[in-house]
Amino acid sequence: MNARIEPAVALQAPAYVKNKALIAWVADVAALTKPDQVVWCDGSAEEYERMCQQLVASGTFRKLNPVKRPNSYLAWSDPSDVARVEDRTFICADTREEAGPTNNWMAPQDMRALLQHGQADGTPALFDGCMRGRTMYVVPFSMGPLGSHISHIGIELSDSPYVVVNMKIMTRMGRAVYDVLGSDGAFVPCVHSVGAPLQAGQADVAWPCNKTKYIVHYPKTREIWSYGSGYGGNALLGKKCFALRIASNMGRAAAQEGDGAPGWLAEHMLILGVTNPQGRKYHVAAAFPSACGKTNFSMMVPPAAFEGWKVTTIGDDIAWIKPNADGRLVAINPEAGYFGVAPGTSMHTNPNCMASLTRDVIFTNVALTDDGDVWWEGMEDDEGGKLPEHLIDWQGKDWTPQIALDTGTGGKRRPAAHPNARFTVAAINNPALDPAWDDPAGVPIDAFIFGGRRSTTVPLVTEARSWVEGVYMAATMGSETTAAAAGQQGVVRRDPFAMLPFMGYNMSDYFQHWLQMGEKLAASGATLPRIYTTNWFRKGADGKFVWPGYGENMRVLTWMIDRLEDRKTGVDHVFGVSPAYEEFNWNGLAFTPEQFAMVTSIDPAAWTAELKLHAELFQQLAHHLPAQLQETRSRIESRLAA
Ligand code: OXD
Ligand code: MN
Repeated sequence: MNARIEPAVALQAPAYVKNKALIAWVADVAALTKPDQVVWCDGSAEEYERMCQQLVASGTFRKLNPVKRPNSYLAWSDPSDVARVEDRTFICADTREEAGPTNNWMAPQDMRALLQHGQADGTPALFDGCMRGRTMYVVPFSMGPLGSHISHIGIELSDSPYVVVNMKIMTRMGRAVYDVLGSDGAFVPCVHSVGAPLQAGQADVAWPCNKTKYIVHYPKTREIWSYGSGYGGNALLGKKCFALRIASNMGRAAAQEGDGAPGWLAEHMLILGVTNPQGRKYHVAAAFPSACGKTNFSMMVPPAAFEGWKVTTIGDDIAWIKPNADGRLVAINPEAGYFGVAPGTSMHTNPNCMASLTRDVIFTNVALTDDGDVWWEGMEDDEGGKLPEHLIDWQGKDWTPQIALDTGTGGKRRPAAHPNARFTVAAINNPALDPAWDDPAGVPIDAFIFGGRRSTTVPLVTEARSWVEGVYMAATMGSETTAAAAGQQGVVRRDPFAMLPFMGYNMSDYFQHWLQMGEKLAASGATLPRIYTTNWFRKGADGKFVWPGYGENMRVLTWMIDRLEDRKTGVDHVFGVSPAYEEFNWNGLAFTPEQFAMVTSIDPAAWTAELKLHAELFQQLAHHLPAQLQETRSRIESRLAA
């Protein structure tokens, strides 16, 4: 920061805030951003209620029909601010090499000039005065159960009341955080502005934002600065920015401290518990790219054929994973809520989620029904395909099935909800919530799953033969892009560990961290989780998905558990072990061996092409790439040629 400038507004930190470094930092940011006032949030229910009412009054929120959707609100964003902006996301490590070739990078001093200090040519800093006419909220939050040795604290300063109420749902937010922080505890400072200062007398808009956007991380000082967007992972800084990009740095730094500690992992993974009819429980952490079904998988309802089995949710998006004293990997969900993709969610795809959404929800960019409720594409599946006669779409326009057809493209209806429309809801609304979801000790992980969205090539499920081969499959994972990020959709891109947009340092160093953790834990005698890859998304010649997915994924999950219990031999192939048709429980599902072959087959030509893409990825990541991964690729290539 610049030399201290006294803020123009009274800071009035509550007496219970004892942390001097925090108070000084809030003063510094207020002096830079120049808000009209600073409000220290306490996280109380009254505060949430008051701020929601304020958002209704300002036109950002619409209160939904209290009978149909009690205590719930709908927000429509600016049409230009609807998704994470990967091309505006920066990892400002000291050197470009530390950020690695998959991240945008700018030298920290240049970025600080642009955002905080002003540039040599006199261009003022973007954050200078950016909160004029607005309130700066101080939002204390804990990622993970309060006081857990795995948890960490953040403080977000934001000029968006929408962000504050979302943070209240998504994190453990409020006064108790200050008790954990004490007078000298560490916190991750997160500064957020929508970048839309108001002149005296200027009326506000429902969704303020700025065309210019910067989502910036300084790994060394563990700071986050976000400018110009009010949406999702761009603005709720506990989620992607802290819990993945900064936390991945923390986990690796813990392995570099020189005491031989293995460090820890911050992963884009759901965590679920699966209990068999005998009461034996396993825990699985699964990485899928954004909008590829993590929330659905984490809340899965097993089909009738799996009577007595239970799936319970610990988390739906992010896992922090640390070895416990005996080397076993345990995981916590750092979040306290779900910020999930609404379109496609229905009683068929995710009944537990639909039950979670019956009350106390913030919806963003879904459509409004004539009776004051919400609607999104996919809900018609619960009505036998019947579409609503009339809606107001996410841009406030009239929508009928006919208007949608007339204004759609490529013969498709114009969607009423934005494809990346979201719900924000507390974990405690989930009927399938695992009793240990808030356990400070975390849950032991038995298996990792890595799953991409691939219409072709990648089989339904494969168990890696070793930790190294599992890391290889995760590192080379490809997936078709979705609406969760701005940019072209449906194109295959390599998305290592489903972490491409969320990696806080050099991707090759991250691979090395996974490999070294495996080596250290194995050397200590610990049993490592098995590693699986999945693909629910293979399509047939008719362009339709072959595998039914959703609850039927239980058939895949139980095969994995059978493997953990050494009860299935599987079929060996070039990069691992996949199931034979007869190894699945097929009760209640008509799925032929031919269909099974369509989702499990390994086409040598397609895999030869796939391995070339792995080679291209490795070329891009060559600097620091662990030799073990190149060796694994060569081994798979030779097996394929044999
Ligand atoms: C998310 C994402 O919001 O991955 O979880 O985009
Ligand atoms: Mn995600």
